[in-house]
Amino acid sequence: MKIRVAILISGGGSNMLKLLASMDADHPAEPCLVLSNKSGAGGLAKAAERGVATDFVDHKPYGEDRAAFEDALIAKLEAAKADVICLAGFMRVLTPHFINRFEGRMLNIHPSLLPKYKGLHTHARAIEAGDREAGCTVHVATAKLDDGPILAQARVPILEGDTPETLAARVLVQEHRIYPEALQSFTRTLAAKTEANT
Ligand code: GAR
Repeated sequence: MKIRVAILISGGGSNMLKLLASMDADHPAEPCLVLSNKSGAGGLAKAAERGVATDFVDHKPYGEDRAAFEDALIAKLEAAKADVICLAGFMRVLTPHFINRFEGRMLNIHPSLLPKYKGLHTHARAIEAGDREAGCTVHVATAKLDDGPILAQARVPILEGDTPETLAARVLVQEHRIYPEALQSFTRTLAAKTEANT
């Protein structure tokens, strides 16, 4: 049986599309749900076009009640029988309430060379600091924001005249390469462990 992967997005979902495309017949995993906190996230329609189940939980009606918002997400993920969660441009901070529920089974991609520049505006901060290189990191998500065991990292140069946008575009090319690679090796290891335990 294949490992079931749910992907959480907030926007256009270019990383999500690369993850979907990577899960071919030989892959240890298959997509079971693309879930967003925004009903209008562009990625939802693109996933649906590819025949993948989609859903959303709008965070706004929950206001400050993050636990209730997260319970609604958890209910959808459980209904989809998700084994592994991939955060792919999901722009809501998740609390330990959610993260502990999927401990060791949730991956995140972050557009910086972690542990540098956790949080937002990573490219602007790297340029502002005068860094010579930037990059992206895939890691296992833990209760601390943008923290946890690193699975893959890619570096790109910061060039003279770069803006946050030009740098983001250079980094995104690498995100599209390392996230599918990391998911494949993570789910292969998980499948081998599951087989050994049955
Ligand atoms: C990606 O660059 C991803 O690394 C970043 O959002 C973008 C989503 O693009 N994630 C974060 O900043 C998480 N804090 P996409 O929707 O085209 O994949």
